[in-house]
This record gives sequence, C-alpha cells and structure tokens, in this order.
Amino acid sequence: MAALWLLLVLQLIWTVDSGKLVFPEGTDVGYIVPDKRARTTEEEDWLNALQKEGFGGSILQRGEREALNEVEEALWRTIENSARLARQQDFRADDREPQPDPIENWHGKWFPHAPKELNRDSSSGNPDTLPEELKDDKHGVAMGIPHVECDNAKINLTMDWDFSPVNYTCFDPKKHRIPVLADLKSKETCVDIPKGYSPQHLCMNTPIEYNTTLPTFGSHRPIWPVYGEYKFVPIQRWLHTIEHGGIVMLYDPCAEPVLVNRLRKLVTGCFRKHVITPYTLLSRERPLALVAWGCSLEMAVVNDEEVKTFIKEHALHGPEGHYAKDGGYKEGLLRKAEYPPGAQEKDSNICP
Ligand SMILES: *[C@@H]1O[C@H](CO)[C@@H](O)[C@H](O)[C@H]1NC(C)=O
Ligand SMILES: *[C@@H]1O[C@H](CO)[C@@H](O)[C@H](O)[C@H]1NC(C)=O
Ligand SMILES: *[C@@H]1O[C@H](CO)[C@@H](O)[C@H](O)[C@H]1NC(C)=O
Repeated sequence: MAALWLLLVLQLIWTVDSGKLVFPEGTDVGYIVPDKRARTTEEEDWLNALQKEGFGGSILQRGEREALNEVEEALWRTIENSARLARQQDFRADDREPQPDPIENWHGKWFPHAPKELNRDSSSGNPDTLPEELKDDKHGVAMGIPHVECDNAKINLTMDWDFSPVNYTCFDPKKHRIPVLADLKSKETCVDIPKGYSPQHLCMNTPIEYNTTLPTFGSHRPIWPVYGEYKFVPIQRWLHTIEHGGIVMLYDPCAEPVLVNRLRKLVTGCFRKHVITPYTLLSRERPLALVAWGCSLEMAVVNDEEVKTFIKEHALHGPEGHYAKDGGYKEGLLRKAEYPPGAQEKDSNICP
C-alpha cells in the first residue's frame, strides 16, 4: 500500500530544479527541499529550524529538471481556487458568541434541522433495507458497528475522498509554502448548537456535504477514526471525533512545518482523543486550525497558552463528549494516539 502511494505521489509531482522530496518522520507529508547551492538564506534558516525541531527527514527522491506539465498546473489552479473560495467564506462567517441557552433562542435559520424535525429524516439517505441491528432512533444508524451494507470503514471510501495526494502534499514549498503572518490574531468561531440536536449517521452509499469549509457539527459516518495522526482523514469521519469530545488538528500541507510540529506537540501532549490531518481548505492567512464540537480556532502562528486554553475549554464537549472508546476507521493512520504522561483515566486531566 505504501509503495502504491509513493508511486502515486511521484507520478503527480514535478520537483523543482534539483530539489529533493523529503518526508519528515511520522508525517508522510512531503516537502521539496532545494539543493544546497540553490537555497536562499530563508530556506537555509527553515532547514536549520526543521533539524532543531527533530525532523530527520528521509530523502526519497532526487528531482530532475522538467518543464511544469499541464497536470500540475491544473492541480494548482484547483488548489488556488479552493483557497480563494475558502477565504470568501471566511469573510461571510458568522462570529456569534455562544448563547447561554441556545434552544430557547431557536431561530431555525442556520441550523439544518429544528429539534422537532429531528426524527423526520432520521434515516434519510440510508437504505430502506437497513439491517435491523443498525437501526437507531437517535442517529438513524447505530454508531461503531462495522457492517458491509452500510459502513465497515473499508467499503466505498472514495465517496468521501478520492485518495488524491493533493490533499496531503505540499508539492513545491519553494513557490507555495505559506508565509507566516506573525502578527495576525487567531480567530475563534463558535456556533450555538441546540442541546437537542443529534447528528445523523449516514451509510457509505450517501454523499455528505457541508456548507462551510470548516464545519464544527453535522452528519457523518457511523464509524469514527482511531485517535491519532493520519496521512489524511475526510471531514465525514473527523466530525464524529468531535461529537465524542475529541479535538481535531488541521493544517495546510504547505503551512510552515516548524509551526505544524509545534502545534502537533501541544495537541499530543494535552489530550489522547485527537485526530491530526492535513487539510487544504483552510485560509492562507491562517493555515492551522483546531476543531472541537461547535468551535474552531484558526491560527496564523502557534501560541502555546491559547492552544492549551482552547483544548481545555472545548474538549469533551460534544453530545457524547465523554465517550472514551477508540474508533474503528484507520485508513491512512500514521501514529495511534497515546495518553500523554500524567493524563488520568477518561481523558479528564487535559494538558497535564
Ligand atoms: C482535496 O483538495 C482539493 C484541493 O484543495 C479540494 O478541492 C478537495 O475538496 C479536497 N478533498 C477533500 C476530501 O478534502
Ligand atoms: C446548507 O445550504 C442549503 C442550501 O443553501 C440549506 O438548505 C441547508 O440548510 C444548509 N445547511 C446548513 C447545515 O447550513
Ligand atoms: C458501494 O457502492 C456501490 C456502487 O456504487 C453500491 O452499489 C453499494 O450499495 C455501496 N455500498 C455501500 C455499503 O455503501
């Protein structure tokens, strides 16, 4: 499988000048590092910082000078278009303060279903022939039961992601690595999710789409990911993680690796119930994010205190926020999460 991925990656990328594709240990996200004589001072500093942060990096491929082909051009047009769309949505995003008792202030304008309607479509999208053992009043489909006729975390995964390397690779950091806006404040966005809301579980024969590029609630797949770091996890899986009170760390594959590593260390040091995955739909201004049920924190730089505060305040808060059991989905799992030293049972001691 790994060899297949490598082939795919190598097929799609065109390395620049005589750069090398480097996969920092434990991430599987490629960076192209220019040869020594072609490096600028800035790149030299970046590499030094990488080394200091403990990124060994194994060199997998020596690039050859080739003209950029149409495939790569098209790829980048897609990426840039989605980044632009993401930015436009950012400006429209609703930054409301969380309401003290949201169900009292129900307006029914932004939320997918009013509480009374919850049962109306509880099985919508799922086959009429849903096996008896999967039927569930609350979610439509019971959670965590692998079933070949619905979701066994293996079948029809391309419904959520076509396995394209564009979703986890920075093809050319020399051109595309995202500049760090060191003075830009982080943006915390919370939505007032009514207490009565229960997201639906939908089988793999039904597409699930989200209106925003950074959803913090919504319908998802019945089987949630094993906690840990992944090559890539689609939204349809990690929304289940935050429903269980988990924290999801998202980073653009072209985000500054030193910052990505710092955020990764904070998250893994704070809380076992995390999922870490690259994600290309964050804004370029803030290419790092944490997501919890109902809230997101988008970041340009990593501030340790801010990150810990967000995790302490928002972890364990989904509808099943204290559910501790690990998931069953592990496609692309790179490293399984562990309890940080000092954490207590049930993840109650956050950022020990
Ligand atoms: C993969 O990345 C492309 C380009 O950014 C984006 O359009 C697409 O939505 C991404 N797919 C997923 C599953 O995130
Ligand atoms: C998403 O947009 C569609 C169409 O505009 C709307 O019907 C739906 O309620 C929206 N869903 C959410 C979660 O906002
Ligand atoms: C998987 O996809 C096939 C072809 O689209 C479809 O017939 C089948 O019902 C799907 N199975 C599930 C469990 O989604």
